[in-house]
Amino acid sequence: MLGDTYSTMISEKTTDEKQEELTKLKERVQLGGGQARIDAQHQRGKLTARERISLLLDKETFEELDSFVLPQNEEFGAADQTALSDAVVTGHGKIDGQIVFVYSQDFTIQGGSLSGAVAQKICKAMDMAIKSGSPMVGLIDSGGARIQDGVDSLAGYSAIFERNVIASGVIPQVSVILGPAAGGATYSPALTDFIFMTQGTGQMYITGPDVIKAVTGEQVSLEDLGGAFVHATKSGVAHFVSQSEKECIEDVRRLLRFLPNNNTEEPPLNPNIDDPNRRDEGLRNIIPTNPNHPYDMLDVIHSTVDNGEFMEVHQLFAPNVLVGFARIGGRPVGVVAQQPKHLAGVLDINASVKAARFVRFCDAFNVPLVTLIDVPGFMPGTSQEYGGIIRHGAKLIYAYAEATVPKISVLTRKAVGGAYIVMSSKNLRGDVNYAWPTGSVAVMGADGAVNVLNHRELAKAERPAELREKLIKEYEERHMNPYVAASKGIIDDVIDPAETRPKIHRALEMLSNKRESLPPKKHGSIPL
Ligand code: HXC
Repeated sequence: MLGDTYSTMISEKTTDEKQEELTKLKERVQLGGGQARIDAQHQRGKLTARERISLLLDKETFEELDSFVLPQNEEFGAADQTALSDAVVTGHGKIDGQIVFVYSQDFTIQGGSLSGAVAQKICKAMDMAIKSGSPMVGLIDSGGARIQDGVDSLAGYSAIFERNVIASGVIPQVSVILGPAAGGATYSPALTDFIFMTQGTGQMYITGPDVIKAVTGEQVSLEDLGGAFVHATKSGVAHFVSQSEKECIEDVRRLLRFLPNNNTEEPPLNPNIDDPNRRDEGLRNIIPTNPNHPYDMLDVIHSTVDNGEFMEVHQLFAPNVLVGFARIGGRPVGVVAQQPKHLAGVLDINASVKAARFVRFCDAFNVPLVTLIDVPGFMPGTSQEYGGIIRHGAKLIYAYAEATVPKISVLTRKAVGGAYIVMSSKNLRGDVNYAWPTGSVAVMGADGAVNVLNHRELAKAERPAELREKLIKEYEERHMNPYVAASKGIIDDVIDPAETRPKIHRALEMLSNKRESLPPKKHGSIPL
């Protein structure tokens, strides 16, 4: 079989003829599954594997590996000997001058399916990415395990998953779903740090609509089952959704600009064109007088970070908590904040898991954490309790407690009960904890506290409603301010909201050489 494809290489030819042969083979490599399939790919509204790589990497930096690899399995005619490269393009290049490894699945060759040879190519690129300490980006467009390759394709997935896990916390791993990701093709992305999806073309599902109908009788369209919107809003599998491949790949480049190449490096400093001492008097009036009225925490974030640039992660999932990347004084930071505009910023299962995952990523890659707090507590109710809010909320405690990166928090309004503890509190080794004059820390809200503490008095009272109101007022006056916590040193300072940005900037500067480590262990046992 090799003879058919490369026969002319081993025949008696002159050096010039061999050179010409190489040029022809390289041209064939560029065509993947052939012009007709490239046209079909474009008609599906998708770019080819190579077009995607050119969008991702800096111009003319791509160094391809393994372009002469052929499908190996000859069963069922699977080893199409015209398919040089098999169904994936792999190699390395640069993004803003930094080395990045990439694999890009080629749907024009057997639907981008994963053969043993494809898996070997991906694994080689991953091994080099780990060795060289460079991020790995997977551009995915695949029908899953190549059916004809049988156990070789399954073994191939195992090898990729193993590398995903070994690389976790060592190099940033990004998956970009630009076509189908069916069956085994979903789990490698799921093991990586961030998943991007394109709306309308990117789909992820373990079993497709036909299997679902056969097994459960349920009828569902591909888009409703595994489209980008579903994974961004319901399952939380997708971190970013884009309307086009171009926009999607530009966002991948943008994300990587916030991140170090690997866990031994610091995130890249950007020349700062926004004055770190810039004040914003507007923040003094952002908290509504009525404590039950919402405001938009994004306004606080935009005002605080460099040039108002905030790359929100998981924007459509659990919007009661905001997470994302920004810079302050040119330094990348991970921002975690309640969003009082959604469910009053309560911590529920999805918000806890979303924030915990983000905190752990930032800690693994030396990205300092800035936490903005306004949290009424954990979400009450049977659906939350039955769903395991205890187990999921514990993930967020675990993540903050474990994190050794600089941790700075600003309490803008309330921090109640367990939710206070969770959000980067002093006793979870928060480094610098600030509060605005509108901030307060309490075990529970005034209403609930009076019910528990004063129930005997209220039961005996002639006018219980009046007494209740008086007691609530007393409780609020006594506890609902930042000075009680500040008097005990668990708030380091009460600050003028206008100075939020300069204060955080100086804290980050002070903590830039922070050293803290955990006792040696194999790994912790996070309540998964
Ligand atoms: C071999 C495949 C293939 C596969 C697609 N092709 N998937 N070949 N193995 N897994 C081939 C098709 O036969 C076709 O070849 C070409 O790729 C393009 O596919 P189309 O079906 O024409 O394209 P489209 O209509 O866009 O549909 C794409 C698709 C569909 C949704 C991905 O092909 C599909 O449902 N494929 C099967 C998905 C699947 O069930 N995979 C196995 C998962 S099990 P020709 O020559 O006709 O153009 C799995 C187990 C691993 O992955 C578990 C590890 C944990």
